[in-house]
Amino acid sequence: MSTFETLDAPASLAAAGPSAWHREPAPIASWRFELPPDCRVELEAFAAEPTADGAPAPRLPATRAWMRALRERVDGGLGLALVEGVPLAGRAEPEQRRLAATVLGQFGRLVPQKLDGTRVYDVRDERPPPGLRVRRSTTNVSQELHTDGGWLHHTPAYIALTCLKQAPSGGISRLSSLAAAHDTMRETCPDLLARLYRPLCWDRQSEHEPEAARFSREPLFFHDTVGVAGRYYDDYVREGQRLAREPLDAMAEDALETLRELVEAERGVATLRLEEGQMLVLDNRRLLHARTGFEDASVTVRRHLLRIWIRDDGAATLEGR
Ligand SMILES: [Fe+2]
Repeated sequence: MSTFETLDAPASLAAAGPSAWHREPAPIASWRFELPPDCRVELEAFAAEPTADGAPAPRLPATRAWMRALRERVDGGLGLALVEGVPLAGRAEPEQRRLAATVLGQFGRLVPQKLDGTRVYDVRDERPPPGLRVRRSTTNVSQELHTDGGWLHHTPAYIALTCLKQAPSGGISRLSSLAAAHDTMRETCPDLLARLYRPLCWDRQSEHEPEAARFSREPLFFHDTVGVAGRYYDDYVREGQRLAREPLDAMAEDALETLRELVEAERGVATLRLEEGQMLVLDNRRLLHARTGFEDASVTVRRHLLRIWIRDDGAATLEGR
């Protein structure tokens, strides 16, 4: 049974849980968490002992227990957490990457973000030549509200952004609740919402074998083990429909327009400026993220986030099939 077949009529539309916040969620202090000292001690010891490639995963019982509890807070709460206190400062970048991946590996299973198997993805301005259609994560321009990997059959359940370097200006993170927009549509326009439970075409971002289709077909809303779930990137859908040579039908056009207005409504958008050493963990199936454009300090001193995708369902491959 495909995901959308589980839920395809307005009468069966379920409401989302507490991640459906309709206003800026509670003060940041209520979703900011400091890694406790026993975890820090454990991670400092781990970092001091370089492991060879292929070594078994380290046992980090305190960190594991804390990250699992954090996951319960994310799932049962607002769908987000800002983690501080991971001992990243003063370390070389390879150690920072290893530490970030190891800490988040206690939260859930890390999955590839590209066909080449990349599990720790660099979000920074790579200064691509103008004119090329490139992923915005490799530029300094603003990004619209979206979930990551929306074109994938098993879209990432969580994403984490670890800030190694922030820009002197811009680069502000914006957060909004897709679950809340879902629930508003359920109340006000269930017919349009039902259209979003049926497949739309998605641009696959060239992350496929050369001979494969350049677009996928996935519904915007579906259900997972937590509840109502979704994927969203307006631009990727419009580009996907173009690649498929299938103009959006009128219902889909109206539904996407309505959804965009809801998720962009200012009263529901939280903003924060990630600071160096902070780790933002998001429920990628219920919350949206974006960032404003930014200017780097210089060509060599660049804003740099490490992006990690986490998903326990499906296979440990990019698509998860
Ligand atoms: Fe993203």
